Amino acid sequence: MLAGKRILLIIGGGIAAYKALETIRRLKEQGAAVVPVLTQAAEEFVTPLSVSALAGVAVHRHLFDLTAEAEMGHIELSRAADLVVVAPATADLIAKMAGGLANDLASTLLLATDKRVLIAPAMNVRMWLHPATQRNLATLRADGILTVGPNEGDMACGEFGPGRMAEPAEIVAATAAALGEGPLKGRHVLVTSGPTHEPIDPVRYIANRSSGAQGAAVARALADLGARVTFVTGPAAVPPPAGVAVVQVETAAQMLAAVQAALPADAAVFAAAVADWRVAGASAQKMKKQAGRLPALELAENPDILATVAQMGAGRPRLVVGFAAETENVLAHASAKRAKKGCDWIVANDVSPATGIMGGTENVVTLVTEAGAEDWPRMGKDAVGRKLAQRIAEALA
Ligand code: C5P
Repeated sequence: MLAGKRILLIIGGGIAAYKALETIRRLKEQGAAVVPVLTQAAEEFVTPLSVSALAGVAVHRHLFDLTAEAEMGHIELSRAADLVVVAPATADLIAKMAGGLANDLASTLLLATDKRVLIAPAMNVRMWLHPATQRNLATLRADGILTVGPNEGDMACGEFGPGRMAEPAEIVAATAAALGEGPLKGRHVLVTSGPTHEPIDPVRYIANRSSGAQGAAVARALADLGARVTFVTGPAAVPPPAGVAVVQVETAAQMLAAVQAALPADAAVFAAAVADWRVAGASAQKMKKQAGRLPALELAENPDILATVAQMGAGRPRLVVGFAAETENVLAHASAKRAKKGCDWIVANDVSPATGIMGGTENVVTLVTEAGAEDWPRMGKDAVGRKLAQRIAEALA
């Protein structure tokens, strides 16, 4: 996947530096050449010897190194790479990057490079959540710096929360995506996500409890595999993923128009919880309360976006995937829905309140295809997104 690519890997000084060793191994497995750079603090966590032994080349450590300068100056070193990856990106390195400091080899390379930069932040949860770190990250994102992670979970410092560095496999996938590589390179995939809001009047609307988390996870995973993703989203609770083209809509009618405008696509995933009904003749002015009289809302049926695209004939995406959120008889309803809507796959899940799935971080799904039904174990919505993206890549191969 990364044959012939040259990665400048800057290893910062944090406990997650041990994962940088595994990352080197995995990048090399994918065919990349890795040129490692260690900050002084990183040497407290991993040794130059283990890093250079795994990379198979000398490790760069000092800004004022006459031998290294004679062989390849640091400016050239920063530009000979196809991508610069910083893992772990500590709070200190992130702050230096945001401030444009260049007082050691790592920060100088980051300031001098003309290549894209991908950072894998790793730090204590309080340090991650600190306004200074979040401010620095916002600066870096605005500068076009790519990020992978951090993940949430138990941390080496004994606390729990966001701040764990992304796993080596995720860093490799993000590296491939940053280089425009991956099994979905050259493919266009459309994803709908989030709820829709159907206005009653200018200030009131009908909505549902979808957070948009699963749709965002699917879109992120598709982009990580190299796809060009158009992400059509209703007003969701979670932010859209980085690296996708976002089209924000509010109503089902707007979502259908946005989907049609985004076609053609190689595959389309309809993860949105589209309202089945809208208010017929929504009031142009705020409806007034009238003593003793309740307003009657007349409903009209919304267009079925999934069915419209699945049955469009010419120009239909090769793979059309729907979601089925059910509260009972999940498999029977999902299979019937697959047939009725004319889509290729249905990702079915049980959203009864007891499961905690709607609005939660985990999901239990059954994938219904032409070949039958497959139960997936309970896993995070991110993991469901990655597994589904992988299957989509296989189907389009
Ligand atoms: O019919 P139901 O809402 O259960 O079907 C769910 C699937 O259909 C989801 O993939 C959803 O995104 C899609 N859908 C749609 N347009 C609608 C209703 C549902 O695309 N109006």
